[in-house]
Amino acid sequence: MHKEVKGNVTWVGHVDWELETFHGDELSTTHGSSQNAYLIREGKNVLIDTIWTPHRFDFVENLKKEIELDKIDFIVANHGECDHSGSLTALMDEIPGTPIYCTAAAVKSIEGQYGKRGWNFKVVKTGDRVDIGNGKELVFIEMKMLHWPDSMATYMTGDNILFSMDAFGQHYACEELFNDRADQAVLEAEALKYYVNILNPFSMMVARKLDELSGMGLDIDMIAPSHGVIWRQDPMQIVKKYAAWSHDYQEDQVTVIYDTMWEGTAKIAHAVAQEISRQSPDTVVKVLHIAKNDKNDIMTEIFRSRAVAFGSPTVLNSILSSVSGLLDFAKQLKFRGKKACAFGCYGWSGEGVKIMQGKLAEAGFTVTESSVRSMWNPEEADFAAVAPMVEELLA
Ligand code: FEO
Repeated sequence: MHKEVKGNVTWVGHVDWELETFHGDELSTTHGSSQNAYLIREGKNVLIDTIWTPHRFDFVENLKKEIELDKIDFIVANHGECDHSGSLTALMDEIPGTPIYCTAAAVKSIEGQYGKRGWNFKVVKTGDRVDIGNGKELVFIEMKMLHWPDSMATYMTGDNILFSMDAFGQHYACEELFNDRADQAVLEAEALKYYVNILNPFSMMVARKLDELSGMGLDIDMIAPSHGVIWRQDPMQIVKKYAAWSHDYQEDQVTVIYDTMWEGTAKIAHAVAQEISRQSPDTVVKVLHIAKNDKNDIMTEIFRSRAVAFGSPTVLNSILSSVSGLLDFAKQLKFRGKKACAFGCYGWSGEGVKIMQGKLAEAGFTVTESSVRSMWNPEEADFAAVAPMVEELLA
């Protein structure tokens, strides 16, 4: 199925309504996703990217309904990850000599995944241009580590479309294809979740790349990412959001994140939340039980927060594996400029709070000295320790 994008550009991707997780089970895709590929028919016919491996044969058959495959002059592979390169094997079986424009790193990642098949790679770098006829060109822009070494964007002059690859995307199945036709609340939430869970570790590089893009002075009428909707109405809105998100973003929010065995740590978690609201009534407070919330959504809430409070009981001289795993995940996402505190119950050894404090510091949080440790179940003295900890957290 194709959809008109602009001028002689057609969407030839796949809307993945059924997708529940991405990157294995690492990233929940609550609203599905799409893999966007684009066909340009100017003086030259150009295919921008393909779709995920399991859909490769459907992709090739659908593409044949659009164009005789040997009429494709060249392919642009903006990224080697299999959700965009995965149909190349089936496609190149049909048109083996067709040039593939990509970065040097993409040659490595594509051949690394699919083997050396003698494909006709044309290596490009930032600023390289290719004439596609009708007075239009494609301009290549390396997007190294956004989010793979091989990532690249392609800008089409004349129609002023930036094919931005993963950047500015969302895991959001939306048949309507354009941002102005999407459910705005879902779009906003999915764009943020995507940024936090995929791009936040590279925020410093995002900020530098946005400066570089701005310095190139491109007129951008449309941003066409590889997942989710195309930004057609006010396309720079997502660029402005990325600019804000990539600079130690935070809102006036504090998130309390905990897991519990016999409810003692849960009681402290709610006491902490109430105390935050008492000390700072305008601050948004959220309480997230790890076992009952999606880990990617928890990461998004951490991203929005200026501070977090982590709770776990001590178990087996350590903390609950759910809390430990979540802290390891938070470390991978490289949050910056946020404060944190730790609390929890214990029965005898009681190392849990210290272990959490260590893991929070390793994950880049500024950790409060004060904490709440409660032997067995929290009592009056334990609840009394909540206020000074919150005071230090909010300071
Ligand atoms: Fe959507 Fe990095 O692939």
